[in-house]
Amino acid sequence: MKKETILVIGANGQIGTALLPRLQNTYGFGNVIATDVRQTGTEEAIFELLDATNALALNDIVQRRGITQIYHLAAVLSAKGETDPLWAWNLNMQTLLNVLEAGRTFNLHKVFVPSSIAAFGEHAPKQETPQSSVLDPATVYGISKVAAENWSVYYHKRYGLDVRSLRYPGVISYQSMPGGGTTDYAVAIYHEAVQGHDFECFLAADTRLPMIYMDDALRATLELMEAPADNITVRTSYNLAGMSFTPAELTASIQRHFPDFKVTYAPDFRQAIADSWPQSIDDSVAKKDWGWKPDFDLPKMTFEMINHLNELYHVTV
Ligand code: SER
Repeated sequence: MKKETILVIGANGQIGTALLPRLQNTYGFGNVIATDVRQTGTEEAIFELLDATNALALNDIVQRRGITQIYHLAAVLSAKGETDPLWAWNLNMQTLLNVLEAGRTFNLHKVFVPSSIAAFGEHAPKQETPQSSVLDPATVYGISKVAAENWSVYYHKRYGLDVRSLRYPGVISYQSMPGGGTTDYAVAIYHEAVQGHDFECFLAADTRLPMIYMDDALRATLELMEAPADNITVRTSYNLAGMSFTPAELTASIQRHFPDFKVTYAPDFRQAIADSWPQSIDDSVAKKDWGWKPDFDLPKMTFEMINHLNELYHVTV
């Protein structure tokens, strides 16, 4: 067991919920401290309430718990951010700067700060978007991620802080519902299909986006964080790819299991956000630097999602 004490911020979010058990396995249950702005349900974790916009509260936990690494997973996502841009900017940036400052002040071993495909905008190539494309995001979420990437480089160069980052594609998981993202349709669709409902999709049928199954996203995160520091040549954020598909292709893969499943399309404001993002990602630098290799394609993910959600909705007593 590794001797580190890990602080997870945003532990009740989509990624936090799934990452916690993995971190507990790696570092020991007692060495992973879960935090969020509210406690939901019965987390199987050591939990503290934390509003990470409050630097004093964050620093207090870091000192009191002897934290050596932070996973900063709290953020307002793309679609929700557009409903209140300044609130989203303040929350995303204040929490980021508090985490980086805590990293510098308390000499943390490592910090994880996720970025997103939302960092890219209209002038990046849409297909196989390269690692170092122009970053001109269309959403406040994307702007905050580009800023976070640059601040991470700054803290690394200026203070030697070991900050690491992935540009997550849309993450698909059964463990919890995502909230406020543009890629979230690809999670909600499975929940409806498994319950025997029709689904109305807020993106057009042919909107291709980069996606990743949670298992792959978690493995990528842990592999990046475990990689020797000398291998890390990208201190902004690594491109990461799993698969790419459209709502129509996702529907077809679900219909192989549920032939009567029906989807209608009613694109809303999220269509413009999706249209500003890449359709597929070139993650060759991650492959070269720390051996990244995705395991899940669309059929394999659909099989797993349906199995897990069947357990959730149709538990036999
Ligand atoms: N899944 C995120 C969103 O849709 C992208 O990082 O906002």
